[in-house]
Amino acid sequence: MYCVRKITEDIYFVGGSDRRLSLFENMYPIPNGVTYNAYFIDDAKTAVVDTVDKAVGDLFFENVEHLLGGRALDYVVVNHMEPDHCATLGALCEKHPETKIICSAKAAGLIAQFFKADLEDRIEQKKEAETLDLGKHTLTFYAAPMVHWPEVTVAYEKTSGILFSADAFGTFGATDGCLFADEADFGEAEYAEARRYYANIVGKYGAQTTALLKKAAGLDIKMLCPLHGPVWRKDFETFIEKYQLWGTYTPEEQGVLIAYGSVYGGTQNAAEILAAKLAEKGVKVKLYDVSVTHPSYLVAEAFRFSHIVFASSTYNNGIFTPMETLLLDLKAHMLKNRTVALVQNGSWAPQSGKLMREILDGMQNITVLEETVNLRSTVKENNLAEIDALCDALCATM
Ligand code: FEO
Repeated sequence: MYCVRKITEDIYFVGGSDRRLSLFENMYPIPNGVTYNAYFIDDAKTAVVDTVDKAVGDLFFENVEHLLGGRALDYVVVNHMEPDHCATLGALCEKHPETKIICSAKAAGLIAQFFKADLEDRIEQKKEAETLDLGKHTLTFYAAPMVHWPEVTVAYEKTSGILFSADAFGTFGATDGCLFADEADFGEAEYAEARRYYANIVGKYGAQTTALLKKAAGLDIKMLCPLHGPVWRKDFETFIEKYQLWGTYTPEEQGVLIAYGSVYGGTQNAAEILAAKLAEKGVKVKLYDVSVTHPSYLVAEAFRFSHIVFASSTYNNGIFTPMETLLLDLKAHMLKNRTVALVQNGSWAPQSGKLMREILDGMQNITVLEETVNLRSTVKENNLAEIDALCDALCATM
């Protein structure tokens, strides 16, 4: 049975929530699920704006047919060709041979790659600032390359002031019947998931995100309709400000993320002592075991905080494997503009400090503090002085 929600008098949400998927993109844990958003514009010409993942395909088709009420579907707009949004595009086009596909030139190429059916004759390509007139509503398309794939467009509907923002302003998390962020009490926990979504999915493409924000600043936006998470009809200035920080790799908060990788507890002990000393000085600290916490959460915390301490055992004459994964993940996501400190441990041949520094040296504008902690198996008296010095150096750079 259909389950639609009204956004305006004639624009509807026709997507759905998936609470069964454990890994988004087969990589990122989504303990609270995810939504796949699609929208329907009911006008002289009817249009669906983006389709959905197969997981919610049945509901999506019920929703669209309910709103069409036997009418033709004139257009399907494809802002983003990643299969979490386009997996049902082929089936929609089969059900509705009358429907024209509206998309960018790059999306047209991807449609040919993803679908067996020849849809080429049904595609109407839109260039920058070109429009689609539906009657009362007009969509204007803007390229948003690499937010998150190269073909991405966003669409601004001027009657309602809605920006259909594709992956931008998306977040992990299924909705509980609430469509709007203000209904859902979108607070710190939800922003943490929005940050984790942004940092991991789009984080590498900060320059492109910033370029999109500049384009969007010229529009009179009254609502944001992203492809994941709630619709924003008010109070989205904070979200936009966070995007401005994330897109420029500017820390949101002065504070220290301590990520430790410990085999038998010595490195963990040093990390805990450092965290306690920082907390005593009034510094905000978050401490994570890299073997326990999925790297996607740590990438998000690294985008949040100004300072990061990497504390790692030496393992196989290298960096403790989960720590190496985290460092390479941060490098791949182009994290920059951070102050970093290192704690190394090694029972017979400590290597992790040198090797972590080599990865960090390949990243932009990462200041590695000279003060380090050098453990041989466990924390000894001489290490306490090193930890004090490191604590002071971190505080001095805040
Ligand atoms: Fe939600 Fe890039 O797809």
